[in-house]
Amino acid sequence: MAIVSAEKFIQAARDNGYAIGGFNTNNLEWTQAILRAAEAKKTPVLIQTSMGAAKYMGGYKMCKLLVETLVESMNITVPVSIHLDHGHFEDALECIEVGYSSLMFDGSHLPIEENLKLAEEVIAKAHAKGISVECEVGSIGGEEDGIVGEGELAPIEDAVAMAKLGVDFLAAGIGNIHGPYPENWKGLHIDHLTKLNEALIAAMGKNVPIVLHGGSGIPDDQIREAIANGVAKINVNTECQLAFAKATREFVAVFNANEAEYMKKKIFDPRKFLKPGFDAITASVEERIEVFGSANKA
Ligand code: 13P
Repeated sequence: MAIVSAEKFIQAARDNGYAIGGFNTNNLEWTQAILRAAEAKKTPVLIQTSMGAAKYMGGYKMCKLLVETLVESMNITVPVSIHLDHGHFEDALECIEVGYSSLMFDGSHLPIEENLKLAEEVIAKAHAKGISVECEVGSIGGEEDGIVGEGELAPIEDAVAMAKLGVDFLAAGIGNIHGPYPENWKGLHIDHLTKLNEALIAAMGKNVPIVLHGGSGIPDDQIREAIANGVAKINVNTECQLAFAKATREFVAVFNANEAEYMKKKIFDPRKFLKPGFDAITASVEERIEVFGSANKA
């Protein structure tokens, strides 16, 4: 199946009470690991590149071709979107140009008027090419220079203004943060999410899919509550990174303990050496898909 835009399968998730995973990738094997999990669980999926990951992998064109080619060579039958995660304005335009099928313009660091103005331009240009668009209001917390900020609550009037521009799915802070959650994290503000969801339905006369960033490390019961209150796309990055690092570290310990035998068997070949790490990513993605409720919805 060719890569597709995401608005249809995310709206279906919103209307039917489950969420689609947006999984960040970092390289070839990572992308294969996510695709394997999505195909095994029969779920639509978004493969996401941050601006930094895309640069690391050789640019947006490379990432788009990578996902597109793997979908074909791996005989993937579930709907797959190649999505830009947290893109600046110029990056969003570049992704439209190279043929990403979905993108996030993140103007949340800008004054709201400017965020809305640029979002409107991105939405018009992307929609003209059938590309789905996510935008963000408020801001999502996270760690910067060692300082962990609590996730902010997105102003409801800003979310409504963004929805009225015709954005396909909307990222809004509800106390969620990127990276590992600190010990003293107070949890998602489901009360705020409930108000946000109700305001969006009232303003638009339909369900508006809400995006939950910082999806790693949120207890499953809070994930399910968020889905019940309008969340239809959940972003996951850190959990896959941690799964990869844990499995790789464990494998290195086994390698070191059996060095002579493993050297003889040429287990230093990266195709063998890194396999446990990438298998752990597939397992982690499959586990998230089950919790998000999107298995067998492709
Ligand atoms: P995590 O760091 O919690 O995995 O969040 C990823 C994310 O939201 C990417 O946009």
